[in-house]
Amino acid sequence: MCSYQPAPAIKTDRLTLRAPRAEDASRIAALCGDFEIPRMTTRMPWPYRLEDAQGFVGRMANANPDQDKVFMVEHPADGAIGAVGFHTHERHPELGYWLGRPYWGKGYATEAVRAALAWTRDGWKRKVVAAGHFADNPASGGVLIKSGFLYTGDVLPKHSVARGQDVPTRMMVWLA
Ligand SMILES: CC(C)(COP(=O)(O)OP(=O)(O)OC[C@H]1O[C@@H](n2cnc3c(N)ncnc32)[C@H](O)[C@@H]1OP(=O)(O)O)[C@@H](O)C(=O)NCCC(=O)NCCS
Repeated sequence: MCSYQPAPAIKTDRLTLRAPRAEDASRIAALCGDFEIPRMTTRMPWPYRLEDAQGFVGRMANANPDQDKVFMVEHPADGAIGAVGFHTHERHPELGYWLGRPYWGKGYATEAVRAALAWTRDGWKRKVVAAGHFADNPASGGVLIKSGFLYTGDVLPKHSVARGQDVPTRMMVWLA
């Protein structure tokens, strides 16, 4: 028995956002075995192994649903292509996301993030969501701006596990 807390499935024009499943781990490991993904996140290790993906899926299955929610982003032809989620470690949930490289540049991240934010407002009843992107990741800044985030003006050093160093991070906020 597992104490799975499934997130609701959300449909967008081209994608479905759904709860992670144990069988997603191999796909996650394959897509995140590209340094360009872990290096743009704070928490992903490098190298990114199957055990890391299994650990991620397991943690999410047992996460406190008031604090953490993650959705796999599913493409109708290709299955899981990425993830979008929220992690609450301070006052407000903080948004994070990634897509496998073959799926960049098609507007998928913006589509998934907008849908996830609508759920935080309407389903999770959150009023404020925080986000930050590394200053050398303008594509992520583009996603956040197009999704309605505003820059707070704070640029904070955030540790990237994959890079093994702190990276200047431009902080943003979204109000429901
Ligand atoms: C960031 C990421 C999710 C973007 O995914 P994506 O599906 O390509 O994003 P979208 O197509 O929805 O939008 C990206 C926007 O940024 C813009 N953009 C892309 N590269 C850019 C650059 N170098 N400079 C400025 N803007 C850029 C795009 O033009 C697009 O805007 P447009 O639709 O107005 O043209 C993807 O690159 C990724 O997974 N990267 C690795 C992990 C990561 O960075 N996660 C976020 C951590 S904060």
